[in-house]
Amino acid sequence: MSESTRLDGETAIVTGANAGIGAESATQLAAAGAEVVLAARREDRLEAVAADIRSAGGTAMVAPTDVTDEQAVAALVETTVEKFGSVDIVVNNAGVGRGDSVAEMETEAYRQMMDVNVDGVFFLTRAALPHLIESEGNLIYIGSFAGQYPRPSNPVYAATKWWVRGFAKSVMAQVGEEGLAVSIINPSEVRTEFGSEDGQPFQERFEPGSVSEPAEVAEAVCYAASQDHSTAAEIDLFRRDKFAAFEKKR
Ligand SMILES: NC(=O)c1ccc[n+]([C@@H]2O[C@H](COP(=O)([O-])OP(=O)(O)OC[C@H]3O[C@@H](n4cnc5c(N)ncnc54)[C@H](OP(=O)(O)O)[C@@H]3O)[C@@H](O)[C@H]2O)c1
Repeated sequence: MSESTRLDGETAIVTGANAGIGAESATQLAAAGAEVVLAARREDRLEAVAADIRSAGGTAMVAPTDVTDEQAVAALVETTVEKFGSVDIVVNNAGVGRGDSVAEMETEAYRQMMDVNVDGVFFLTRAALPHLIESEGNLIYIGSFAGQYPRPSNPVYAATKWWVRGFAKSVMAQVGEEGLAVSIINPSEVRTEFGSEDGQPFQERFEPGSVSEPAEVAEAVCYAASQDHSTAAEIDLFRRDKFAAFEKKR
């Protein structure tokens, strides 16, 4: 199957699709033939990603959505079904990392991480599940290394990603018999705008080649989305020196 046709006829919703991992995932899913629905809050940036996809011959619809708004998320799914007839792939990607010290964390930063990384993931999963079961589709979550190991630099962010992985695995157990695939992709550091709300974005903090690029995570998303019968249950995509860094700290 060629790269441009392996997802032909499939419709994908990607949250956080106007930046970083989400923009790359939407672009690569479209290049593989999927019709993509781009969701995030900043509409001008969604339009820019959609324009690039269309100029490369792909199909993209812009759907400005705040994932913390459950009615907006339900409308995102319904609009997608009305426009394209099905939902075959969902990428729960929108996420934020704020603050660091628990003792000093503002409630507003805590609340935002819980609202986006936890509630937003629940709202989209709930709204999309009936359609994904009907299409026997692929439900994908962007977890994190921080959701697999303790993270001294930000326990609250880590906890939201542990929740994502626990939820995803249990959804997998609940709906697997119905033919739906559920995948979790766990990157370590990726060079995106992540971290910019409180400090230096990762794309500036890390030199090219020292950690992962968003396109590499997007390739894992496309791999998971391309499974017809099996489930790519969990993919860990780590910088090569990730475990060596633990040792160096001793
Ligand atoms: N970068 C890393 O090192 C890394 C590592 C592991 C896991 N991750 C995870 O990967 C995912 C994507 O992160 P990224 O690195 O690509 O970050 P990013 O470049 O900062 O992008 C974050 C995306 O989330 C969207 N978003 C934030 N709040 C939203 C809301 N309320 N409603 C809808 N969309 C919202 C943003 O768009 P708007 O602001 O326009 O809404 C943006 O598109 C996140 O779940 C993150 O936790 C990242």
